[in-house]
Amino acid sequence: MSSTTLYGGAAHRRITILDLKAAKERGEKWAMLTSYEQMTASIFDEAGIPVLLVGDSAGNNFLGEENTIPVTVDELIPLTRAVVRGSTRALVVADFPFGSYESSTEQALATSIRFFKEAGAMAVKLEGAHLETVKKLTSSGIPVMGHLGLTPQSLHQLGGYKVQGRTDGEVMKAAALDLEKAGAFAIVLELVPEELAKEITESLSIPTIGIGAGKVTDAQVLVWTDMAGLTAKPPKLAKAYRNLRQELMNATKEFAEEVRTGQFPTQAQTFH
Ligand code: KIV
Repeated sequence: MSSTTLYGGAAHRRITILDLKAAKERGEKWAMLTSYEQMTASIFDEAGIPVLLVGDSAGNNFLGEENTIPVTVDELIPLTRAVVRGSTRALVVADFPFGSYESSTEQALATSIRFFKEAGAMAVKLEGAHLETVKKLTSSGIPVMGHLGLTPQSLHQLGGYKVQGRTDGEVMKAAALDLEKAGAFAIVLELVPEELAKEITESLSIPTIGIGAGKVTDAQVLVWTDMAGLTAKPPKLAKAYRNLRQELMNATKEFAEEVRTGQFPTQAQTFH
């Protein structure tokens, strides 16, 4: 597949981290989306999205939490399994929930093993520069995606959802280089000034995946509910390509009205 494109590969098999490396080498940009269940996973997979992230953003976009902090491994495992089952081509990445990897490399390995064995995940993602953990996981056969910039699990430490790296960009750049050296296969850059994202992207041989980091990164990620216009109050970094919230609202009201007025069901939905 490396001689063709991520979107148009003839072979129908799962995308691998080697395909992503090859895409960077030939300058091919790609899109990643979050997914939390089988239905959207199958649509995004069929649309050609090469990487699906079962993000801990499931907290505020699926589980009704205020932020990502309360999300647990037990909650993300069935969601990850559903996304794996719903897709045939995408590389499925499971996000480490807060509290599931920071204590020790052994804790991170145990969490990865659960995501791999119980859910069929093909990679994991962790926030911050946990270099020893990345080394331990990659040497154990577990591909790791990094995440720098605004790391939502550190919301309280960072004092809110703020752009990162405006004054200490060199620290982030060093962390990105260290993550690559430790074995990470890609790095998410969230809410980072475009100039810094460009510098980091050009200094790495692994792909950067931007969200609120300008157009300079190798790939872009959006939370799917933001991308589809389902989120009631989307963040500034997102673009809604449709207004699914309004569509669903209209469909729901139409259904309710047809039931109220006796128009549904018709003979077409009736059995004798
Ligand atoms: O959990 C998530 O959805 C993420 C993406 C925004 C990168 O971490």
